[in-house]
Amino acid sequence: MSEDLTGRRLGQYKIDEALGKGGMSVLYRATDVRLGRKVALKVMGEHITGDTEFRERFVDEARNTAAIDHANVVPLYDFGEIDGMLYIAMRLVEGSDLAHRISDGAIAPQRALELLDQIAGALDTLHEQGLVHLDLKPANVLVTDREAAAEHVYLADFGLTRRGATGHRTSSGDFLGSPTYAAPEHLRGEPVDGRTDLYALACMLFACLTGRPPFQGDVQQVIQGHLNTEPPAVTSQVVLPSSIDDVLRRGMAKQADRRYGTCKELLAAARTALSAVARPEVPPPARPTGPSAPQHRTPPQYVPQPQAPPPQAAGYRPPGPQPGPPQGYAPAYRQSRPLPPPGQDPVRLRPPMPAQSAAPLARRSSGNARWVVPLMVVGAVLVLVVIFIVMATSGGSGSSSPEPSSSYETSEFGQVPTVVPTVGGG
Ligand SMILES: Nc1ncnc2c1ncn2[C@@H]1O[C@H](COP(=O)(O)OP(=O)(O)O)[C@@H](O)[C@H]1O
Ligand SMILES: [Mg+2]
Repeated sequence: MSEDLTGRRLGQYKIDEALGKGGMSVLYRATDVRLGRKVALKVMGEHITGDTEFRERFVDEARNTAAIDHANVVPLYDFGEIDGMLYIAMRLVEGSDLAHRISDGAIAPQRALELLDQIAGALDTLHEQGLVHLDLKPANVLVTDREAAAEHVYLADFGLTRRGATGHRTSSGDFLGSPTYAAPEHLRGEPVDGRTDLYALACMLFACLTGRPPFQGDVQQVIQGHLNTEPPAVTSQVVLPSSIDDVLRRGMAKQADRRYGTCKELLAAARTALSAVARPEVPPPARPTGPSAPQHRTPPQYVPQPQAPPPQAAGYRPPGPQPGPPQGYAPAYRQSRPLPPPGQDPVRLRPPMPAQSAAPLARRSSGNARWVVPLMVVGAVLVLVVIFIVMATSGGSGSSSPEPSSSYETSEFGQVPTVVPTVGGG
């Protein structure tokens, strides 16, 4: 297992603190003493430096990162090998990753669109160059609020990025990556292209809007979901216009040729679908469930939106202990803290996501319960008042919004690939 290099020098880099440890590498905050600037230094784990395949992957990661000149791709500063250790130096993003940002629950639709639109632009550029990221997930989206008035987002971790249609498996044929956001063709080991990333982007939009990924459970359940199950409707979980379900269903179509043509197109469709949201700057209210929920379903567009504290107020988050980053990585702005315990070693595969991502995301429902219930009561009262006024003025009738249903077949999806759960890796 890799030792902690904190306090040591690696060439021109003074290693200040370990930010986290993945299956293949350790990420450090470091100082480039020649230039006097802070950097994020990703050092390949010593335990796999002798593995030719993973060495090649690490070199590929550096090359792919350097190949993309885009404002939303984390800039690569340097790549090299010192004392037998491969490293990548890149811009230190002061902020946190998107997994951390959604670990407390859904984020506001407007914010989700702004953040993911930047990622969509980066991905389209990647795809134009014939590259496919293949590891798109919230932990690989770095969000900073220090650079501009608006939040700036960087796409990171090109460790699985490949050119062309192959290379998404290890030489032994194992799936490499995390299945939580993985497209069916990726899980099956079939050819991949930009639409594979687009599927993952749609899953991420789903996660931003609801606070949880579309398919949850153990690894096999998640994989079966992607392969054979229609994704749940976002509107079954939160109050949003039903047209967003159609957008996400197309983005997550099992067959790649039924998806949007580009990631920007997906985001444009989502923006249109969400344009009717009354308060896009606050997270969507959870859809009432359980015995206390009102018995009727009202179209989301017409539901008076419960008042929530402004999004910038830190107090908006439900009270109680705030969970840490779900990936075992401390965001760069955080204070140093002990590294997570070492995992299996040697590591050949990255871990499946559900255990890491679903747990913090799942905390949302119980954490929010304290404020959701009063808000639901207020909302229900307002709905009754509106219905009363409408009936009094026009003698009109109520309406209901049926949940959209599937528009594609899922019968042909076959074999479940082998996924070997291992440690680390965000
Ligand atoms: N340039 C960076 N600046 C700040 N934090 C970063 C940077 N790159 C990555 N991170 C953080 O470290 C985590 C792991 O980095 P990543 O490159 O994804 O490694 P891995 O291959 O182990 O997943 C990310 O999820 C993110 O939280
Ligand atoms: Mg990662």
